[in-house]
Amino acid sequence: MIDLLQIGGFPREVQAELDAGFRCISSDDLEREPHRAAGVRALVTRGNLGVPAALVERLPALEIIASFGVGYDGIPLELAARRGIVVTNTPDVLNAAVAELCVGALLSLLRRLPHADRFVRAGRWREGHFPLGGSLAGKRVGVVGMGRIGKDIARRLEPFGVTLAYHGRTDQGLAWRYEPDLLALAQDSDVLVVVAPGGPATARMIDARVLAALGPQGYLVNVARGSLVDQAALIEALQAGRIAGAALDVFDDEPHVDERLFGFENLLLTPHVGSATIETRAAMARLMLDNLRAYFGTGKALTPVGAATV
Ligand code: 8YV
Repeated sequence: MIDLLQIGGFPREVQAELDAGFRCISSDDLEREPHRAAGVRALVTRGNLGVPAALVERLPALEIIASFGVGYDGIPLELAARRGIVVTNTPDVLNAAVAELCVGALLSLLRRLPHADRFVRAGRWREGHFPLGGSLAGKRVGVVGMGRIGKDIARRLEPFGVTLAYHGRTDQGLAWRYEPDLLALAQDSDVLVVVAPGGPATARMIDARVLAALGPQGYLVNVARGSLVDQAALIEALQAGRIAGAALDVFDDEPHVDERLFGFENLLLTPHVGSATIETRAAMARLMLDNLRAYFGTGKALTPVGAATV
């Protein structure tokens, strides 16, 4: 049996399949029995957890890193390439779920649905009306990162009657306006949706200047990675009323969310649940497992990273 190291926990059915096909070793097992590192040929991890380079260095027989997630910013790709280690992710199967979360979060933010729910439960309706929210119809939405998930978000937003534009590395010749200048996109948007890949190239791209350009009537939605937003600058912008509000599904240092964010009423906070539907997580698990099986069965993985982008 092949030795497989796993980072993080997986749903029961996924774990059962891993246990049936591999001799699974947890990170804790490895700490207790470090000699087991020598035999590890496969590693599974979750998109939001990644793999430390130092761990890969400790695994001389490692052949494949199979991630349960689309983002691979936490995986040391260069080291893997140098060592000839195949890296796989789970593209496409989560596009719809992330797009649904994005649209839902945006609507919840504009219509203040969590507040409305608390308002009714607290019996406050008897005392007066709930304050008016904002419409999505007519808003200018700027999408930062027009990859596969970005396109799914844009397609889902179109029927709401918004005007769409996007920013990314290249003009893809899409039906929506391309804006090469991120500041100009922020300036021209009522809502900025962040859905670009994480990693050094995009780190803190939503900084104080972009937030200032978005302006006091502008909303930020981040369903990508916490690293894309300068969280300190966001907190300052919220404190100063320089933006209207934000919906954040991702953060720096998850799951340790900066508690200063908890105080803002104009924030919608969710615990990195973009792909967290029963159907989507099952499809992601299937693809992760199929990648492992294909690699060890045929020498070729199904969705190796390189061909894939967020
Ligand atoms: C996580 C994600 O993978 O796909 C990604 O890159 O960040 C998420 O879908 C998911 O939380 C599983 O850990």
